[in-house]
Amino acid sequence: MAELGHEVVGVDVDPNKIAMLSLGKAPFFEPGLPEILATGMASGRLSFTSDISQVRGAQIHFVAVGTPQKKGENAADLTYVNAAIEALLPHLGDGELVAGKSTVPVGTAQRLAGRIADAGSGAMLAWNPEFLREGFAVQDTISPDRLVYGVALGESGAAAKALLDEVYATALSKDTPLVVTDYATAELVKVSANAFLATKISFINAMAEIAESTGADVTQLADAIGFDARIGRRFLNAGVGFGGGCLPKDIRAFTARAEELGRGESVAFLKEVDSINLRRRQKVVDLVVESFGGSVFGKRVAVLGLAFKPDSDDIRDSPALDVAVQLKGLGAEVLAIDPEANSNAARTHPQLNYVSDVDDALTGAEAVVVVTEWKQFRELDPVRVAGLVSRPFVIDGRNCLDPVAWRAAGWTYKGLGRP
Ligand code: UGA
Repeated sequence: MAELGHEVVGVDVDPNKIAMLSLGKAPFFEPGLPEILATGMASGRLSFTSDISQVRGAQIHFVAVGTPQKKGENAADLTYVNAAIEALLPHLGDGELVAGKSTVPVGTAQRLAGRIADAGSGAMLAWNPEFLREGFAVQDTISPDRLVYGVALGESGAAAKALLDEVYATALSKDTPLVVTDYATAELVKVSANAFLATKISFINAMAEIAESTGADVTQLADAIGFDARIGRRFLNAGVGFGGGCLPKDIRAFTARAEELGRGESVAFLKEVDSINLRRRQKVVDLVVESFGGSVFGKRVAVLGLAFKPDSDDIRDSPALDVAVQLKGLGAEVLAIDPEANSNAARTHPQLNYVSDVDDALTGAEAVVVVTEWKQFRELDPVRVAGLVSRPFVIDGRNCLDPVAWRAAGWTYKGLGRP
């Protein structure tokens, strides 16, 4: 927002994050973020505080807190959204706009609009879902592929739209598609987009399962169906499946909300999407176990990747970390490495051995498992690294290596859904 020319105050309840940000340090890994953080702070337009009263007088209050999965349930936990709105209420003024960015169950915005109206400040609410991808967050924010505003009917909705137009003037000037709609549609756009993406990935992973039983190659299949512009090649990469803080919990929360609405059957397929996805993690573990004739106990396994995807240090619901933990649980000696996620993983999963040099992970390994397709793993030279391991056996959990080159270098190569 500061990069777009606005004056911004960032507020968080976590004093550690505020302290880091105030020093110009990003509290997580995201390409390009440190640079725009520095520019924003140098411009004087960007500051951080844990004092919520500093929001006073802002024209727009973005609420971008998390909505994680509730413990032991599928539903989304709205504690943080509710708390953020309650904390804002005493500081809101007439004509100011609260713009929700968080991914919420349909019906939440209407309820929160009621809460804001009851408090009597004259502030308005819009729901303005966020579609950025981790790893591309800066680019997706500066140049979004679409904007969606969920606003109230009538005059206050028009005023909310005008304020959002002002904030997003740079994007709108680049002809970014804009959908102005009601609260429920805006909330549903967000969860249905993520449900569609998750379904696309599980579809191709289901084809990988069929390919495994028939000797077909799912990567070629994806290329071939992807040439149909109605299908498209993106998000058809079969492998160990989707993870992260969004897709898995969003499809579960959507299912829970649909069930509450008596429409569980409409999204019952999302349970299948979830199951297919979780089966692929198991498949990777099974392949390793099978390769040792039924037990990994005491075997040295190099796990390359821990983050849920490359260019991120995020390990939330990460298939890669899950595979590492399962192998460790089966008695393997796991040497794990991720270019950015080692320390996050070590905090929550101290039972794994973490190394910071890929050669240290590979030396003496009896199996190599690639589960996050970081560039440095994709570009490993199979000839050179064959000399490091004690058994040249690789599972390509992201179908990101060249089977021909790896086999030519003497490796037993196993992809997912490819021969
Ligand atoms: C996702 C959506 O893509 C964003 O549009 C959305 O804004 C975001 O969730 C959110 O709700 O905040 P993100 O979680 O950053 O973004 O990551 P994705 O790029 O969607 O990848 C999700 C997972 O799917 C990763 O584990 C990735 O490895 C996996 N994936 C992706 C595949 O297994 N195959 C593919 O072909 C593509």
